[in-house]
Amino acid sequence: MLRDMRPNRILVTAGPTREAIDPVRFLSNRSSGKMGFALAAAAVAAGQRVILVSGPVSLAAPPGARLLQVESAVEMRSVVLREAVRADVIIMAAAVADYQPLAPAAQKIKKGAATMVLRLKKTPDILAELGRRKPPGQFLVGFAAETTDLLRHARQKLISKNVDLLIANRVGRKGTGFEADDNEVVLLDRDGGVQRLPRMTKKRLARRLIARILARIQAHST
Ligand code: PMT
Repeated sequence: MLRDMRPNRILVTAGPTREAIDPVRFLSNRSSGKMGFALAAAAVAAGQRVILVSGPVSLAAPPGARLLQVESAVEMRSVVLREAVRADVIIMAAAVADYQPLAPAAQKIKKGAATMVLRLKKTPDILAELGRRKPPGQFLVGFAAETTDLLRHARQKLISKNVDLLIANRVGRKGTGFEADDNEVVLLDRDGGVQRLPRMTKKRLARRLIARILARIQAHST
């Protein structure tokens, strides 16, 4: 599938998704897209062909990457699954919503009672689906954003989603994780390897991750 002469095709997701409550309101999260866009830029700089699937963010696409903009988890799923077929590497850095409103209202919901209940249903788990469909030779990378029990939750995701590399991201602290310019992560691979990286800028982390992923797939293709 890869690898000798042509650049690899790298599919990166970034940013949040928005799940409509009504035509003017949505559920979302604090993802800025910085981590995913930095990964896309680092992959382009490393000579790779990059497709960046992003939820709504206010960042410019890295020159050289093909940007596909989506809004909801369902939309992200359909674009990612379509593009995944030809990808050598997939990196799911997006903060995909886990739940969406069960029945988005067709018209703006009017203010009424003092409390209201919003019924939610699970969104599709894109990474888990990619893990189930993974063709031989494709390298799948997931993130795990956790505020507690980082390594335990990350290990569960590594196994249950069938990924090759899991980037465990402690979030909820000021200065790293969501929205920040820096990140602090632990890398878990399928063979049980664990590498704790120091806090660094997302741009620097992205370069390290891309170098590591390319070295890994190169080693497996020779
Ligand atoms: O965008 P920034 O502001 O730069 O912040 C970066 C980040 C914190 C968003 C990023 O580094 C990060 O941790 N991304 C993953 C966030 C997340 O949704 O983590 P999770 O543990 O909920 O999900 C685990 C994995 O499953 C992720 O790879 C996620 O993309 C994927 N997922 C989750 C839910 C879902 N329905 N489908 C998915 O594919």
